[in-house]
Amino acid sequence: MTDPMTTRRLYGRRQGHKLRLGQADLVERLLPEISVPEEGPLDATTLFGKDCPLEVEIGFGAGEHLAGQAMARRETGFIGCEPFLNGVVGALTHVRDEELDNVRLHMGDALDVLERLPDASLSRVYLLHPDPWRKARHAKRRMVNHGPLDLIAAKLKPGAEFRLGTDDPTYCRWAMMVLGQRRDFVWSAQTAADFLTRPDDWPETRYERKARRQGREVWYFRYIYQPAA
Ligand SMILES: C[S@@+](CC[C@H](N)C(=O)[O-])C[C@H]1O[C@@H](n2cnc3c(N)ncnc32)[C@H](O)[C@@H]1O
Repeated sequence: MTDPMTTRRLYGRRQGHKLRLGQADLVERLLPEISVPEEGPLDATTLFGKDCPLEVEIGFGAGEHLAGQAMARRETGFIGCEPFLNGVVGALTHVRDEELDNVRLHMGDALDVLERLPDASLSRVYLLHPDPWRKARHAKRRMVNHGPLDLIAAKLKPGAEFRLGTDDPTYCRWAMMVLGQRRDFVWSAQTAADFLTRPDDWPETRYERKARRQGREVWYFRYIYQPAA
């Protein structure tokens, strides 16, 4: 049965501006080719036709981080999840332009895909600039909550990484508190530079760029998943 703590986490817009002809064509032709199948269990072989490391990005926005990672490591399979159609078009454009054959997309709730992956199958999960839901009464909507984190934990391999980026001070404090309550996610930072400086292998996202442009601080969290022995 689906855990109610992990369901109904889609609250934002699904579409913005109208698609141009070329964009509509990408959605019609390329998206079905690289979409995560709608039903059934998922694994590397089902998705990529081979046994390869798997990583998931939750809410990839316009897809620049997803594409950057996929370009840098072509032997790793990347599953990007994003319900916003215009964002999906962004990712499709990268996939076409960079000829990425190691990306699969799910236009919808990332938790639906995570649920279908085998336990202990992921090398990394990315959650970059998640919707902050700043009001306290909306805190339950935040992706960083124990329900979704339990699911993410179940799917990560021991020693695998959960990366969280945010430019929102409320979310930053909230995430540190919620993750700090858990023994299975160990914060890897040793010094302030470890979470205040973007790691070289962390391509910049649109929201991150916008935050910097507006003079806001960005925090880069890396947690290592360490299940109890
Ligand atoms: C603030 S934007 C950040 C986008 C991108 N990560 C960036 O840094 O530019 C948050 C994104 O998360 C997506 N999102 C929200 N809930 C989601 C869910 N349950 N599964 C997948 N994506 C989700 C939204 O559609 C939105 O595009």
